[in-house]
Amino acid sequence: MTMPQAAPPADPAARARQPLVVVDDVVKHFPLPGRLSGSRQRVHSVDGVTFTIAPGEVLGLVGESGCGKSTLARAMLGLTPVDSGRVLFDGTDVARARGSQRKELRRSMQLVFQDPFAALDPRMRLGTSLDAPLAQHGLGTREERHRRIVEVLGHVGLDESFLGRRPRECSGGQLQRIVVARALLLRPRLLICDEPTSALDASVRAQILNLLMELKDELDLTLLMISHDLRVVRHVCDRVAVMYLGEIVEVATRDELFESPAHPYTRALLAASMADERLPATEEPGPRTPYSALRGEPPSPVHPPAGCRLHPRCPQARDRCRTEEPMLVPGTPGHLAACHYPYT
Ligand SMILES: Nc1ncnc2c1ncn2[C@@H]1O[C@H](COP(=O)(O)OP(=O)(O)OP(=O)(O)O)[C@@H](O)[C@H]1O
Ligand SMILES: [Mg+2]
Repeated sequence: MTMPQAAPPADPAARARQPLVVVDDVVKHFPLPGRLSGSRQRVHSVDGVTFTIAPGEVLGLVGESGCGKSTLARAMLGLTPVDSGRVLFDGTDVARARGSQRKELRRSMQLVFQDPFAALDPRMRLGTSLDAPLAQHGLGTREERHRRIVEVLGHVGLDESFLGRRPRECSGGQLQRIVVARALLLRPRLLICDEPTSALDASVRAQILNLLMELKDELDLTLLMISHDLRVVRHVCDRVAVMYLGEIVEVATRDELFESPAHPYTRALLAASMADERLPATEEPGPRTPYSALRGEPPSPVHPPAGCRLHPRCPQARDRCRTEEPMLVPGTPGHLAACHYPYT
């Protein structure tokens, strides 16, 4: 699918109706690392992904480890060049932006990583780490930058006393707040959170998710929330895209996705996440699900299966699924699924 690259409309109402982000048929394959790198085999990390994010929306992106979520995030930020397809941010092609436009994009889209300890230099005081993005963008005098940092620390529920600390003098939850603060310093419009809570304890996880939701409203942010955990996206997202082996297999509003999932892969993820809620310590029966689990492990992204990529693991697979690739099409308005036999 190709879309003309339109300049953003000047009328604010029309602008609000335009997607903030358009991901249009993005493909990213990596050459196989290591011994086989001379061969022409490639890892099909992202394979024709299309979706949009509306201004102010929280879109969830879920899928098993290795399905391509982080690669897609990096491509959206322009950190990984794509093989084909485009990412538009507010009408600007991320890969083609140069000069001041590129600088503006770098400011407008920020990434929050999974592991706050890896995101911050362990030798640096937090004040220095927080000042770096502002100084790099040449924003304000030392005094002004300090005021901005203290203001943003307030947004994430921390005070000035953290500026003199080093990362090891903070808890994981406090550090993740610092990472969120650093992302917010430049007043971004889009925050891409890549597993922002999976390195944290359950109690801190909820705090950070609640903080992100508060900030979203307070600061008028748009969020892409990447997680392998359906409970996280259920908690915070307006709409959810489900990814399997480099492709989007279902997109729906949160309520539709959880109440009537169309794709066998989404159904299996739901079954697995409900099984997780049955705590082994108590052995109490958890919520039941009518959905079947998948067989086996995800196949190699170097040789994705023909037809529907899920067919070797799908309990519903029939002959057609082995040969014909299903397209991502709407079943009901706004609810798309790539399955020949949805809801079965
Ligand atoms: N720089 C790279 N070179 C080669 N292969 C890569 C590279 N980056 C990612 N891949 C491969 O692309 C696929 C998708 O990786 P990616 O990190 O995007 O998955 P993910 O969905 O974010 O997984 P996780 O949930 O574990 O973070 C994997 O098979 C991975 O090994
Ligand atoms: Mg990842």
